[in-house]
Amino acid sequence: MKALISTSYTSEDTKQAATTFAKKFNYPCQNNTEVNTSLNLNYTDEYVELRDNDKNIAIHIDFLSGNLAHRQQYGGGRGQSIAKAIGLKQGVAPPFVVDATAGLAKDAYVLACLGCPVILLERSPVIAELIEDAIERARDDEHFQNILKTGFSVIAESSIDYLTQLKNSANDNCPDVIYPDVIYLDPMYPERKKSASVKKNMQILQKLLRHDEDTQELLNIALKTAKKRVVVKRPKGAKNLTNIKPTYLVESKKTRYDVYITSK
Ligand SMILES: C[S@@+](CC[C@H](N)C(=O)[O-])C[C@H]1O[C@@H](n2cnc3c(N)ncnc32)[C@H](O)[C@@H]1O
Repeated sequence: MKALISTSYTSEDTKQAATTFAKKFNYPCQNNTEVNTSLNLNYTDEYVELRDNDKNIAIHIDFLSGNLAHRQQYGGGRGQSIAKAIGLKQGVAPPFVVDATAGLAKDAYVLACLGCPVILLERSPVIAELIEDAIERARDDEHFQNILKTGFSVIAESSIDYLTQLKNSANDNCPDVIYPDVIYLDPMYPERKKSASVKKNMQILQKLLRHDEDTQELLNIALKTAKKRVVVKRPKGAKNLTNIKPTYLVESKKTRYDVYITSK
């Protein structure tokens, strides 16, 4: 049976980066013309992309052009449902957010554009590499530099492990422990629509990651470590993530945010 994923490079200039990543995670690595896996993390001269070779589609992250830049320029600012859900308020410093399910970093970037310091946690090293590459490519942009100054960094780790360590350090009275104000969750759920109508991004993510099975555990630890609230993004009409009832809901056309207030 062929492996699901490999890494590849399109030139001698990108070979080293592809090889280093492949060695770290024990993936096959070859020139892009010789790939025979369903998916490959492809290091091109412009960006790192994730290719689905069965469907001949590819995704990469771009903070400076396309949908993300458009959303940042015209996206509705503080009036957006996501801003209400995280509790952004006029005259109050934007909350420090841990996005515990970073994915393709779209929501994290919207939160960063709203002025929030954001730590992105992503357990798939492949997806974390796409984010890291997008951050590196955006580093020279003036607007993005402000975002980096406020705080926008990715950690390739399970958020359950990260938040558990944070909690243990707080219990040990470590002086440097800072709990996030808000923990944001948008886990992968089994797709209800037929795959042809599912967006390209989601098709590739689903093939690489399937769906997240440990969201109950993640919500539990998030509720213990968020200083102010936990926000769970759900498709409108979907069931709650667990049987713990949210404090209230913020709804938009297609999306529902379940808000769990944790501050006493
Ligand atoms: C639906 S995607 C998130 C999409 C994201 N909100 C965006 O705007 O692009 C869910 C992501 O969360 C990640 N994830 C799920 N559970 C996680 C966990 N416990 N720790 C870290 N990452 C997790 C998955 O690997 C996947 O990439």
